[in-house]
Amino acid sequence: MKPIKKICCIGAGYVGGPTMSVIADRCPHILINVVDTNKSRIEEWNDSNLENLPIYEPGLKQIIKRCRNKNLFFSVNVQKHIHEADMIFISVNTPTKTKGIGAGQASDLKWIEASARQIGKYATGKTIVVEKSTLPVKTAETIKKILSSSSKLNKENANELNEFFILSNPEFLAEGTAINDLENPDRVLIGGEDKSAIEALKEIYLNWVKEDKILTTDIWSSELSKLIANAFLAQRVSSINSISALCESTQANINEVAKAIGMDKRIGKFFLKAGPGFGGSCFKKDILNLVYISNHFGLSEVANYWEKVIEINDWQKKRITKLIVEKMFGNVSGKKIAILGFAFKSNTNDTRESPAISICKDLIEEGSYLSIFDPKVKIDKIKSELEMSPGKNESIQNNLGKWDYANSIDEAVQRSDSIVVLSDWEEFYNLDYEGIINKMRQPSWIFDTRNVVNINIAKKTGFNVWSLGSANL
Ligand code: NAD
Ligand code: UGA
Repeated sequence: MKPIKKICCIGAGYVGGPTMSVIADRCPHILINVVDTNKSRIEEWNDSNLENLPIYEPGLKQIIKRCRNKNLFFSVNVQKHIHEADMIFISVNTPTKTKGIGAGQASDLKWIEASARQIGKYATGKTIVVEKSTLPVKTAETIKKILSSSSKLNKENANELNEFFILSNPEFLAEGTAINDLENPDRVLIGGEDKSAIEALKEIYLNWVKEDKILTTDIWSSELSKLIANAFLAQRVSSINSISALCESTQANINEVAKAIGMDKRIGKFFLKAGPGFGGSCFKKDILNLVYISNHFGLSEVANYWEKVIEINDWQKKRITKLIVEKMFGNVSGKKIAILGFAFKSNTNDTRESPAISICKDLIEEGSYLSIFDPKVKIDKIKSELEMSPGKNESIQNNLGKWDYANSIDEAVQRSDSIVVLSDWEEFYNLDYEGIINKMRQPSWIFDTRNVVNINIAKKTGFNVWSLGSANL
């Protein structure tokens, strides 16, 4: 296999964009084209104002500035760039199916299939196809079948034998730390059958990743490992969240418990932060997929076990809303609530599956008026997640059961009865409690689902404080 000179990545999303940016940065000798059918997304990637990139990720802007239009290009010309590439990454979305067989659990592979068909149609010569998207185990088989049947039909290249080598190379980056995760990965996993194709991909990573961190395996173990890594991570969050409720009932403190158990090397200290429930586009969909696959193979006990991780997650969100309403004298109708944080975690503008969505919807349903502030999430995203246009920031009575967008913490808390902290953005760790309480109505509450509030100072300032996982109020 010749060294790779041209890469095409299908899908310019949260994975395709940052991953290709880092490869371009570390491999100036490789030309990378990231293609997407979403024209406005590509326009945003090409925007001269780097504040308008479609994704907020610390460190991303700097790389785009260094590499864009040098060896990194964003384009809608899918055909051309597939045609020219030696290696093609598939980084398209794989959400949960909403219709048909397996609806609500299985992954919807229509975007994967479309990508495979495009590759089959336009690729020429020897092409390495890399599964970057998270896929159910055995998807490579489907891709292989599509590619081999497409190449037979390819009249344009009737005299040239197209050959495809399929690799699985799942991505483990977390949003908010994507650039650091890509530059310093815990491991890079490559699954495949063809040794020379595996070596070609390994060569790329060796430009910045140490060899002992590059793990090669068979394709099925690689595909399955990605689903299982996410399932284990989500399981830890649900475990600690379930214990947060027990702490509140027993007057233990969740941070103390997490610290004590995390010092045991066998348990480890990471991913033990209690919160309002995990969000993000992947944990839920990947566990649902695992449940579906387990049931498919007749392993209902395995499926039921993992399903509980999602159940606890949903329960955590519901119990938080219930608790807010109860603490505010059983009624939030006619009350204004400032929501701090709408992204599913800090340092991202991604709102997919954010716990803020269901908590906000439930509070709106209860008749409260929400003023939502997030440092990076724009108004249109909140509007589409809540499936509701914002009201006008005027009197509370005219805004019952509505929400509006606040441009700052100060604007959100103005005349509000309570504050609910839902994402762990840096700026929420040092709130100006004195200044804030003077703008609010009395009595004033803070509901802290991320343990970012300084309880002592907030209480001294006059707030009623509820903090997740400790005895409160
Ligand atoms: P995304 O929705 O942000 O991006 C996917 C992009 O693919 C979209 O812009 C879409 O327009 C494009 N696309 C779909 N079909 C196409 C086609 N046929 N041709 C050209 N473009 C097409 O999704 P994402 O968050 O980047 O996730 C992509 C995959 O990576 C998923 O399988 C996900 O599970 C996995 N993953 C995501 C993360 C994450 O942090 N978001 C991390 C690891 C793995
Ligand atoms: C997660 C995994 O961490 C990545 O390895 C994986 O590649 C990615 O999913 C994916 O496949 O999409 P991500 O969802 O971006 O990454 O972010 P995480 O840091 O894992 O957080 C997920 C959710 O769990 C967030 O809502 C976060 O607030 C919550 N969480 C995380 C906690 O509540 N407590 C914790 O201790 C950790």
